[in-house]
Amino acid sequence: MHAEDITTGRLSVYERIEHDIAQRGISIIENALPMATIAPLLARVASLPEHEFNEAGTGRKQDHQINQFVRRDYIHWLDAAHPAEHLWFEWMNGLKTHLNRTLMLGLFSYESHFAMYQPGAFYKKHVDAFKGQANRRLSTVLYLNPNWQTQYGGELVVFDEQQSEHIIEKVSPNFGTLVVFLSEDFPHEVLPASHLRYSIAGWYRVNNSIFGQIDPPQ
Ligand code: OGA
Ligand code: MN
Repeated sequence: MHAEDITTGRLSVYERIEHDIAQRGISIIENALPMATIAPLLARVASLPEHEFNEAGTGRKQDHQINQFVRRDYIHWLDAAHPAEHLWFEWMNGLKTHLNRTLMLGLFSYESHFAMYQPGAFYKKHVDAFKGQANRRLSTVLYLNPNWQTQYGGELVVFDEQQSEHIIEKVSPNFGTLVVFLSEDFPHEVLPASHLRYSIAGWYRVNNSIFGQIDPPQ
């Protein structure tokens, strides 16, 4: 990447994310993906029947718990076998390749779920990964809400790593906005909204394989 490309704005979306992650560990880009990729994703999540959503929990496998004081969203894991979701994984795979090549992040697998926040639903302040556990390395959130109004609320609030009371970003969940950040470094929360709110949350993991057994996603 050349300095003049940064100042003239002649960068691809992948390069802009690379630049932001290298500079400050977080990237927020509006209209990040092609409409041909995100329109089918909205159609897909909006047409999923209620029984295909699960109450979201915290922790993996044996540690998995439902805690309605922490989060109230409903989720559906994406599967590359579905055409709309396949396009999503292709784009995110391209980003993985780009970031591994330029920033040597060593990202290995990617998992993601649709999240549906009904009016009033929230996700309290949390981090997506704990230091030293080397699991989730990079978090992504894409928003799927056309015509979202600021007064609906539902912002993603991102806090400073060191002074965790200090807000560094407040992101409205507008259709096509993509947020990418280092999973261990940014406490964040989802504020309640007055309207139904859709997002796709995802995480790149590093390879934690032990004795040749690859650490599975989820
Ligand atoms: C998460 C999360 C943010 C959002 O699922 O871990 O922080 O805005 N989601 O949906
Ligand atoms: Mn999170």
